Amino acid sequence: MTSVGAAFPAMWRELAPIGRHTGSGGYRRYAWTPADADCRAWFRSQAEDRGLAYETDRNGNQWAWLGDPAAGDAVVTGSHLDSVPDGGAFDGPLGVVSSFAALDELRARGARPRRPLAVVNFVDEEGARFGLACVGSRLTAGQLSPQDARALVDADGVSLAQAMEKAGQDPDAIGADPERLARVGAFVELHVEQGRALDLLDRPVGVASAIWPHGRWRFDFRGEANHAGTTRIEDRRDPMLTYATTVLAARKKARLAGALATFGKVAVEPNGVNAIASQVRGWLDSRAADEDTLAEVVAAIEQAARERGARDGVEVSVVRESFTPVVEFAHELRDTLAALLGAGAPVPVLPTGAGHDAGILSAAVPTAMLFVRNPSGVSHSPAESAAEDDCLAGVSALADVLEGLACR
Ligand code: GLV
Ligand code: MN
Ligand code: MN
Ligand code: MN
Repeated sequence: MTSVGAAFPAMWRELAPIGRHTGSGGYRRYAWTPADADCRAWFRSQAEDRGLAYETDRNGNQWAWLGDPAAGDAVVTGSHLDSVPDGGAFDGPLGVVSSFAALDELRARGARPRRPLAVVNFVDEEGARFGLACVGSRLTAGQLSPQDARALVDADGVSLAQAMEKAGQDPDAIGADPERLARVGAFVELHVEQGRALDLLDRPVGVASAIWPHGRWRFDFRGEANHAGTTRIEDRRDPMLTYATTVLAARKKARLAGALATFGKVAVEPNGVNAIASQVRGWLDSRAADEDTLAEVVAAIEQAARERGARDGVEVSVVRESFTPVVEFAHELRDTLAALLGAGAPVPVLPTGAGHDAGILSAAVPTAMLFVRNPSGVSHSPAESAAEDDCLAGVSALADVLEGLACR
């Protein structure tokens, strides 16, 4: 009999070089790029090596089936393989690698599934390239229209439709896939924890209770380009100043409300050292435990931006680019997981501020998540980490869950 996760290190090694930036050491695996294609080829070969039935759905999500999907009531596990700019190795891939390893473990245990099982790789979870997170799962769940999806553009002006076409995926076929979701009886996503709760509790694995509501807002600050050496301070209409003040206001408003607000991406025109900017575009990511608090925080940041803009002679406009409501994972499934994993001591049950395909799917399918300890709590950075023993504890927990749900 093989030990738990015997194939884990080899799978991890194979994925490790794909899309890794030699300078930062982080990952740049953006949807429908060559690095993404390499990850997708890896997924397919893992499926085929195991004799799983491989398919790509109409939205480009990849599936590997053990058993007949048409039988329905499937137990599906998986995550994503794309990354944020200079992301860590674990956010996404840990869930996919652990899913294959958990299926191996079920086989090693001689478990006999009476429900179909599948591993899934949802395409474009991070939204790093086209600005909208969870595109693959949103399309499948009917939470994003095909027209809106096709029209998304990357920083080079390439539309999602063009990118898909180039990667050999038909953009005209995308859209809601209710028949597929109707065959899924449960979805379980394993993910590296993106905080330190498990580390503080000294536990390797936890179960998710909820995902905070979150969204992305685009702030445009329009002023006037002018000479940095000849324009008097009183004569300037400098959008950088309004932007900077807005960043400070965001931090303060969020802190006072117990929420989170981040300007992590900014584009400046004309972006010259010796020119006052004509325009600054900044993207706000904000999250809170409840939707009212989130709405209040974003409104307060917007108001601060407008007030400052009025003083600076800078025009301010704000567009909400995406919003994901609060997600409460299915209580029954969550309690089943906690019971399956809580034989020794009760398993920790935690909320998270990070978005996941599981959050999107939970509107259509009973959904749960497992978290694996991340000692530094760092994520969306090359410093993200998880110990191998904890990853194997995650595989074992996922196998317990799949066995409990599908084989009894
Ligand atoms: C996705 O990882 C997000 O929470 O932004
Ligand atoms: Mn992420
Ligand atoms: Mn993720
Ligand atoms: Mn994510």
